[in-house]
Amino acid sequence: MSIAKANDGLISPRAVERVVTGREVMEGAGVRITRVLTQDLQRRLDPFLMLDIFRSDNPDDYGAGFPAHPHRGFETVTFMVDGRMRHKDSAGHQGLVENGGVQWMTAGRGVIHSEMPEQENGMMEGFQLWLNLPASEKMCTPWYRDFSSGDLPKFTTEQGVKVTVIAGEIDDTKGAVQRAGTEPLFLDLEFPVGASFAAPLPAEFNAFVVVYRGSVGAGNTPLVQRQMAIFANQGEKIELKASERSRAILLAGRPLNEPIAQHGPFVMNTNAELHQAVADFNAGRLGEWLLNGGENPEPQW
Ligand code: CO
Repeated sequence: MSIAKANDGLISPRAVERVVTGREVMEGAGVRITRVLTQDLQRRLDPFLMLDIFRSDNPDDYGAGFPAHPHRGFETVTFMVDGRMRHKDSAGHQGLVENGGVQWMTAGRGVIHSEMPEQENGMMEGFQLWLNLPASEKMCTPWYRDFSSGDLPKFTTEQGVKVTVIAGEIDDTKGAVQRAGTEPLFLDLEFPVGASFAAPLPAEFNAFVVVYRGSVGAGNTPLVQRQMAIFANQGEKIELKASERSRAILLAGRPLNEPIAQHGPFVMNTNAELHQAVADFNAGRLGEWLLNGGENPEPQW
C-alpha cells in the first residue's frame, strides 16, 4: 500500500491503547539508559522484547560501555543516532557503528560480544532493540551486519518527513533488513513543524512509536521525549503528526505467539532451554571466545 493510500481518509487509523514513559536503569558496566520496552510488555509487543534509549553528553553515563557478555535466541539492533560504538563478537565480527548507522546482530545459537564507546566525550545517543526469533531459528548460525547512515534507504514524503527505512518496506522503499517470520518494520522519522505521516499496517501487527525529540501526536494523544505509544490492534494505518520539529522511531512486527522464556541475555521458549544456554555458556560452548585471550567473561546478569 502506498503512502498516498494510507493518507486516504477512508481507511481508519489505529487508536493509542497505552502510553508508557521510559524508566532509567543501569546496564553493562554502569551505563545509564532509559528502558521503554520492559519485560512486562514482551507479550503485548511480541515479537519485540526490549527497547532501550541511551542519550547523554556526560562520559560518566556511557564511558564504561558494555564489556563482553553473551546472547542466545534473538536479534539485537543498535541504531546509533549520534556517537561511536565499537562492536566485537565471538563469531569474529567487528565493526564501528556511528552517527546514524545501524548494527544488526542475530545472536542465534550464541555469541559473546562487547559494545564499547569509541569516544571520550561528546554526545552518545541511540537505541537498542531486541527482536525475537521464531523457535525454529533460535539456534541458527549467528549473523551480523553494519550499515552506515548512507547505506540505509531513505526518502522524503510530500509533507517533508524524512524517513529512514531500517527494516521492512514502506511506500515501495525496501529497508536495509528484511525478516520473513516477524516482518519487522523499523522506521526513523524526522518531522518538520506541523507535518503528518501515515503508515499502512495490518491490524494484527503489534506496533509502537517512541518520540525522542520534540512532540508528536498519535491521534489525539500528544507524546513527548522518551514516551512510547502502543497502538491498538484495530484499524489499518498508523497516523502521526508533529506539532514542532520532532524525531521518532516507529516499530511494528508480526507476533510469533510462541512462549517467551528469558533469563538475562538469553531468550528462549522454555526454562529447560534457558538452563541449557547457561550450561553451554559456563562450559565455554556458547560462542568461541576470541576477544579476551580466550577467557570466558564473568556472567553479567
Ligand atoms: Co549485547
